Parts: sequence; C-alpha cells; structure tokens
Amino acid sequence: MFSIGRLLLFHTIDKYLYAMRFSDETLLDITKRFRAELTRGLGSDTNATASLKMLPTFVRSIPDGTEKGDFIALDLGGSAFRILRVKVSHGNKQTVQMESEVYDTPDEIMHGSGTRLFDHVAECLGNFMEKHDIKDKKLPVGFTFSFPCRQTKLDEGYLIKWTKRFKASGVEGADVVQLLNKAIEKRGDYKADIMAVVNDTVGTMMTCGFDDQRCEVGIIIGTGTNACYMEELRHIDLVEGDEGRMCVNTEWGAFGDDGSLEDIRTQFDIEIDRGSLNPGKQLFEKMVSGMYMGELVRLILVKMAREGLLFEGRITAELLTKGTLPTKLVSAIEKSKEGLIKAKEILSRLNLEPSAEDCVAVQHVCSIVSHRSTNLVAAALAGILLRLKENKGVARLKTTVGIDGSLYKMHPHYARRLHKTVRRLVPDCDVRFLLSESGSGKGAAMVTAVAYRLAEQTHE
Ligand code: GLC
Repeated sequence: MFSIGRLLLFHTIDKYLYAMRFSDETLLDITKRFRAELTRGLGSDTNATASLKMLPTFVRSIPDGTEKGDFIALDLGGSAFRILRVKVSHGNKQTVQMESEVYDTPDEIMHGSGTRLFDHVAECLGNFMEKHDIKDKKLPVGFTFSFPCRQTKLDEGYLIKWTKRFKASGVEGADVVQLLNKAIEKRGDYKADIMAVVNDTVGTMMTCGFDDQRCEVGIIIGTGTNACYMEELRHIDLVEGDEGRMCVNTEWGAFGDDGSLEDIRTQFDIEIDRGSLNPGKQLFEKMVSGMYMGELVRLILVKMAREGLLFEGRITAELLTKGTLPTKLVSAIEKSKEGLIKAKEILSRLNLEPSAEDCVAVQHVCSIVSHRSTNLVAAALAGILLRLKENKGVARLKTTVGIDGSLYKMHPHYARRLHKTVRRLVPDCDVRFLLSESGSGKGAAMVTAVAYRLAEQTHE
C-alpha cells in the first residue's frame, strides 16, 4: 500500500505531466488520425504530402517453409551493426543455423562521408568472411538497412532521408545497394551478391512469420520505431497489379511531421526535436523510441528541479549534460524490485544527492514517459489492425504481430502494457505478439532465399 504522502506526490507529478497522460478517447482519436494518414500515404495523389510514406517493399509473402540455402545478412541501423551467416536446410523440417558478429560503428563513421561508411561495411564483411572461412564463396547477401528507402524492386533501395543517429553525406537519394557493391568491388578481395534490401520491420515480420504463418505485421521499438504490414496490392497505388498482397513499410516514425500531432506534443518534445540531428522530422519517433526517452526524462527532471520540485532545487552540471540519462537507465529505474535502489545510484552519480522521496518521484516520471510511449504505439498499431480487419472484411481479426527492438525487450513493463492497451483499444482483434528472438537477420535471409530461388528459376 502507498502512504498518503506518496499518493500526494504521485498526484502532484500526474498534474505536472498531465499533457503526457492520455485517455482512451484521445488514443482512439490518434488511431483515427493514423488511419487517415495510412490511406493518404497509399494514394498516388496524396503520397507526396502524406507524413506516412507507406513504402512498397516488394516482399509479397511471409516464408512458406520451402526456403533453403546459405546466406549472409547484414544488419545496419539498429543499436548494433551485425553480420550473420544464416544456413537454412531441410531434413524432416526446415532448420536454421546462425552465426553472427557485432561490429562497432563509431560516430565519426555515421556522420562522415557515405563512401567511408560503405567502405567500413565492406571491410567488416570482409573480416567476417575471413573469420568464417567463406571468402572464396559468393554467397547471396540480404541487407537489412533500417532507414526509409524508395524501392522499385527488391535489390535496390534509394535512401530517402537518414533518421536516428546516422547522417553520412552523399547517401540520401542514392541506391544503397550500388554504394555497397562499389565499396566491395573497390576492395577486390571477395565477391558478394546483394539480393535484397530489407527494412528491419520487414525482417522482423519475416523472422516471426517463419514460426507463425499468421504473422502479417512487423514492429520495431528500439533506437527508432516503425511498423510494416501486409497490404492488399489493389490499394497500393504506387505499384502495378491488383492481385495478392505486398508488405508496406509505413515509416510511422514520421507520423505527425505534417503537424497532425501538435496538440499532444509538449515543450519537452519540442526541445528534443530542436536538439536533434533531424529537426522537424520523425516527430512520433521522438515521443516513443529509445533514442529519445531517457533524454525526455532528463529534460523533465531539469525543469522540475529548477522549479524546486525535486532535489531541493539542486541542479548539477551532470544533470544538465545531454545524454547522461540514457533509456536503459529509465528501464532500470522502473524495475519493480530494485528500481528505487537503481534510482538512488543513478541520481547520485549525477551528483543530485536524492532523498527517498526524490527517487520515488523520478521513478514515477519515468513511468509516465514510458507509458506515453506504449500508449502511442498502441494507438498506431490499433490503426493498422483495424485496417487489416477492414481489408479482410471480417467481424473479428485474428492475427500475429512480430515485434523486436531494444526498448521493447529491455524495459521491464513495456511489452505487457503495450499488449494490454492494444487489446483494450481494439477489442474485436485477437492479437498474438511474437517476440523476434533472433532479430531481423533470419527474416532478411528468408527474403534473400526467395529472391535467390526466383533468380535461379529465371536462369534455368
Ligand atoms: C527509423 C527508420 C526506420 C526503422 C526504424 C526502426 O524510424 O526510419 O526505417 O525501421 O527506425 O529501426
């Protein structure tokens, strides 16, 4: 039970941050706005001005169980740069073997020239092949590139805009497959056959689709946030054909970039955006994802301390320094058992000499900010689910959502809260959430496997 003092404290903070707490009515209103943007993004006349880019991915189905082969998957753009070797074989049933390595991508490479970035990727790939003794093979490569790309086929992806931590020059507007091919050719010490560029959401949907044939949505809640889903081809104006479905990358991180979320953005969101690498862009992402959540909490603490509501008004240089409260610390503070001890440790490291009450208050602030994130994701996901339900013309939708990302996986309550809120917002959808245990690499290999099989068939 909470004491009266604690209830009063919660009440004060709730009032202070009321603009971050949404009723279900507001959430359903956000769902409605999101659905309207989905439709605008799909229409040929409205796509150019829509905030949701609804990018066709040229992935037409989830794995059907017949894929096989030996592949390399590159995974660039999430919290780590990873290279995997994925072997898919058939005995009685399809089995997948994976080996992977993680490589550093320092800031100066993410923010330097595009040539340097792709030279780095090609160098890591060379090291990987050397280490795994496959430098003499020309294996098909699936490239998980977790940024918005314009595609007209599977093995081409023109970067529209960098998001998250990346800002290498000369890449926006260029085909990343060509850039990588050039970097590999320049080295000349190995060969690679890049068969597919895949967004991480698509890789996640495909990975989960391997285990559950019903999977038709992929979500990432990590450094950034985004979702893809299977849309009816007849609704995708930008691609010819009316039969069947295609996976569409919504790039929902950009929801609100047209001003449609201004009523729910707070002064903290405006501040985060101003100090970001891409002001005015990815406004939904900045309210939701792991790259920004810790920073949001820090800005709130600064303001509360300034107003004497925390730390007896103490403000330290550490508290004022950008990046001193990364999202993983928000996750630690929200842990049910050790959260308050963690809060004490973390705030003490920022030299704030927190009282027991400060620790409770900070934990509550963290919980409001992370709740807002789950609420916003739930509202947007509800929009996708209602769209799928309408497309299928069913009274109840039964579906599976593949999901991944560091925030979703590491935060102690995120997953549970998200599931609960989605079920409450769309009670006529039976949703199974499936965590992508092995990341998006397996999925990228599956996409590559299908592309490879089709390419072989056309050569026969
Ligand atoms: C950003 C990227 C998007 C990616 C997401 C998750 O929003 O623009 O392509 O899927 O981050 O990594």
